[in-house]
Amino acid sequence: NLDGYKLWLNYDKIEDPQLASDYSNLVRSIYLSNSSDILKNAQNELGRAIPRLLEKNGSYTATIQPENTLIIELFEKLPSDLRLQLENDFRTTNDEGFLIKTISYKSNPVTVISAKKDIGILYGVFRLLHLMQTHQKLTTIDLIDSPKVKLRMLDHWDNLDRTVERGYAGFSLWNWQKLPGYIDQRYIDYARANASIGINATVLTNVNANALILNPMYLDKVEALATIFRSYGIQVYLTARFSAPIELGNLKTADPLDPDVQNWWKNKAAEIYKRIPDFGGFLVKANSEGQPGPQNYGRNHVDGANMMATALEPYGGIVIWRAFVYSEHDDTDRAKQAYDEFLPYDGKFMDNVLVQVKNGPIDFQPREPFHPLFGAMKQTPLVIEFQITQEYLGFSTHLVFLPKLFEEVLDADTFQKGKGSTVSKVIDGSLYGNTLTGMAGVANIGTDLNWTGHPFAQANWYGFGRLAWNPYLSAETIAEEWLKATYSSEKAFVEPLKKMMITSREAVVNYMTPLGLHHIFDTGHHYGPGPWVDDLGRPDWNPVYYHNADYNGIGFDRTPTGSNATEQYAKELETIYNDTRKIPEKYLLWFHHLPWDYKLKNGIDLWDGLALKYQEGVNQVKDMITTWKNAKPYLTEGQFKEINMLLQIQLKEAEWWRDACLLYFQTFSQRPLPKGVDKPA
Ligand code: GCU
Repeated sequence: NLDGYKLWLNYDKIEDPQLASDYSNLVRSIYLSNSSDILKNAQNELGRAIPRLLEKNGSYTATIQPENTLIIELFEKLPSDLRLQLENDFRTTNDEGFLIKTISYKSNPVTVISAKKDIGILYGVFRLLHLMQTHQKLTTIDLIDSPKVKLRMLDHWDNLDRTVERGYAGFSLWNWQKLPGYIDQRYIDYARANASIGINATVLTNVNANALILNPMYLDKVEALATIFRSYGIQVYLTARFSAPIELGNLKTADPLDPDVQNWWKNKAAEIYKRIPDFGGFLVKANSEGQPGPQNYGRNHVDGANMMATALEPYGGIVIWRAFVYSEHDDTDRAKQAYDEFLPYDGKFMDNVLVQVKNGPIDFQPREPFHPLFGAMKQTPLVIEFQITQEYLGFSTHLVFLPKLFEEVLDADTFQKGKGSTVSKVIDGSLYGNTLTGMAGVANIGTDLNWTGHPFAQANWYGFGRLAWNPYLSAETIAEEWLKATYSSEKAFVEPLKKMMITSREAVVNYMTPLGLHHIFDTGHHYGPGPWVDDLGRPDWNPVYYHNADYNGIGFDRTPTGSNATEQYAKELETIYNDTRKIPEKYLLWFHHLPWDYKLKNGIDLWDGLALKYQEGVNQVKDMITTWKNAKPYLTEGQFKEINMLLQIQLKEAEWWRDACLLYFQTFSQRPLPKGVDKPA
């Protein structure tokens, strides 16, 4: 059973006779030059898809002809009368953009896919195939699209022994032992899937990985992967362990101001670029969770990042420096530390440095307010880091549609340059005019047959890519696109399933961490509940530090009477967050410690409201199960069963979360469960 391997690139047969005939007309006579590897891959994709969609081959001409029904060519190579008709449209497309448009050529209607660069052609071909797969009418089409973000990047947390940190879909795709000689078809299919949604960068190694990847033996293997990925427009990046000059270069120090260290990195960059001329650069986790960094030598993040940036700069490479820092030696609220540490460096990084900031100030929780660095750091391009792998969201067992989470963060208004200063505008560079922009997602991909463990986790990979391309897309649009491409375009299937996906994110918040609770996961694995844990070496890892439940109440006071983390947000938000009457209740206990009998907006006591939220989460999973059962007619037996089993586990575990958290918090609230909340099993 290969269910799921093909991802959203199934290319199922078009059954509707009218559509099938329209599409057949469209591919009756295709011109597509194959003068580059990228263009060859565009042609390969058409060759793969058309026979499956239409049960016939498209036919190709060697040159552009009046009888062509589909002309796929770079703008500058189009015949002049076509160019003239499209000139205007090309004013708004960027180097990776494309257009698909029906115009006329020598009095015949023709659909043209055109772009400034080969990669735009590949993206255009993938888009056309997506439109066919999702049964769009294409008799006349007028579509112009360009990515709004430059770096659309997957961060793999893959170790060289093929284990994947926080990976729940098998082992790493990269088979280091067989590379560079053996090219697994999976590498190609991985690249196809990424290119189909516009992902153009991949970091092959874990932020916590050792330095070995920078050794020549591994660089040979990286080169082999880079060669394949290049032909799909994907640039390769590596994590660079800060202490590599000691570990690999036998130097005594990794001090960024030491000339030998600087030279070591310069030589390393030269060595890499000799093999991989379009190498992207380094992703660095330094002085974070015990990783080495410039602070080990009394230097700072700017010294470290700029030293590496200097080494990469001659080749056009970049440094992505992570801001995920918090220290056990600092008793400041962990949520404040990254902002405190990085804001003073604003404007001090070299032009080829980007700072990568997680979406929220703690750590990929089911819900966090946006990270206060967004909008505040005005002179440094920030890459937003989302986690596609579900570390705190039920691994690959729970169905959670993450684009809903991503959308919430991207749409959030930072108010840093007045109303409308959304996180999206920070990320796409439009707020402060950065040219280098990026969105990164920690990959959820592994060797599992279906790539992501949970079949619906594919939607999170897909959705991440779509939002990196266009951060203004709605989660709903993405869910719909994915459902149609993956399962069926039947309205009676898509509508309820779309609703299920959209609700799934709120469901997991409700049954794990409602009303702003966070970091109450059991230690280490971060899977089940552990709000009672209070005995870890570092207090900032203990769940009790975050929920602060006691006989008086629950929640983390981040207002001026507490840690005052609210001061890191713009005035407009600070005022809202400080005020229990104004703050959206989804963030209530993130910012406030409140008594158990605190009255929620609906008039009920906090304790009762909290318990009812946990129950709501359980009920939502029950509804998901019903929706899935009703969708059975549109699914194969295998598809139905697989997700049904997973949903049954999810239900049990939602109940587990509810029971564990409520029984524990009840030891403080000392109040009965309200009506409507099921008794613990
Ligand atoms: C989380 C995660 C770690 C990871 C870290 C990071 O803390 O649990 O496994 O290394 O984030 O993003 O660096």
